[in-house]
Amino acid sequence: MLEGLGCVGVVGGGTMGRGIAQLFAMKGCAAILVDSSRDALDRALPFLKEHTSPELWPLVEKKITTSVDIASLSNCGLVIEAVFEDAEVKKDVLKKIEAVCPEDAIMATNTSSISIDELAAALKYPSRFAGMHFMNPPKVMKLVEVVKGKDTSGKTIDAIVEATGELGKVAAVVKNTPGFVTNRLLFALLGEAMRLLEKGVASKEDIDATMKHGLMHPMGPLELADFIGLDVCANIMRYMADKLVDAKYAPPAVLLSLVESGRLGRKSGHGFYDYE
Ligand code: NAI
Repeated sequence: MLEGLGCVGVVGGGTMGRGIAQLFAMKGCAAILVDSSRDALDRALPFLKEHTSPELWPLVEKKITTSVDIASLSNCGLVIEAVFEDAEVKKDVLKKIEAVCPEDAIMATNTSSISIDELAAALKYPSRFAGMHFMNPPKVMKLVEVVKGKDTSGKTIDAIVEATGELGKVAAVVKNTPGFVTNRLLFALLGEAMRLLEKGVASKEDIDATMKHGLMHPMGPLELADFIGLDVCANIMRYMADKLVDAKYAPPAVLLSLVESGRLGRKSGHGFYDYE
């Protein structure tokens, strides 16, 4: 499958896009990383060099090219969009990708929450479009959640599942639903852990210990929320509560008050825990 793609385009050279391009390059597949910001592209390659083994770096460096011009995707058999999590920005980018890529190219989005059907509405040929939700960091995390929209063809899903396998990842095919499956399950857990903390049922350390040592999770739910970023968690939970009309996903007061006080998790040095 990867061999037949010619080259793979990744639009958005930030945290996720650069890591996705790296995965394809590590398998010897030519990848074009496109971003509207030259700065982002200039930062991407040194970052990837730091996060690629010295043996593999010459291959990755040879296989990844960067461009600020979306027209450079004209020969790509697969294009993955990984720009900001904003439906309007994504729709605009997807339309531009569709206008330049080959008619039989597969198009995917790495959105973590926006409806695949909403994004597909911007396209002329939605049957070749699906979600390809990589986890952060793409090189380390095994899962790719493959999201089937109402118009996505079986052929598109099969091709994405096959490419995912060739990247050494595990595909889970899910229907389009707010939060898909990963975030539906994750935020049910994180929200409940926060509510238990609010009620004083257990300390944060003991809540985290139950999942780490009782269910072998590598991180407890409160540690994980700090790792994701508490502002990001609050936004995702608001979105899911709204779309699913389910108060279970509404951000708990303890989360909102931490965000308001600038405690955003690891990235700010403080969240449920202190990191300095
Ligand atoms: P980021 O902010 O690190 O990178 C986004 C990049 O998109 C930036 O370099 C920006 O310059 C570029 N961009 C914005 N508008 C553009 C346009 N019109 N044309 C070309 N490039 C444009 O964001 P990140 O974290 O990489 O997220 C990207 C996508 O991946 C989002 O949809 C996000 O929800 C999803 N995602 C993020 C995860 C994470 O943990 N960061 C995990 C899984 C999915």
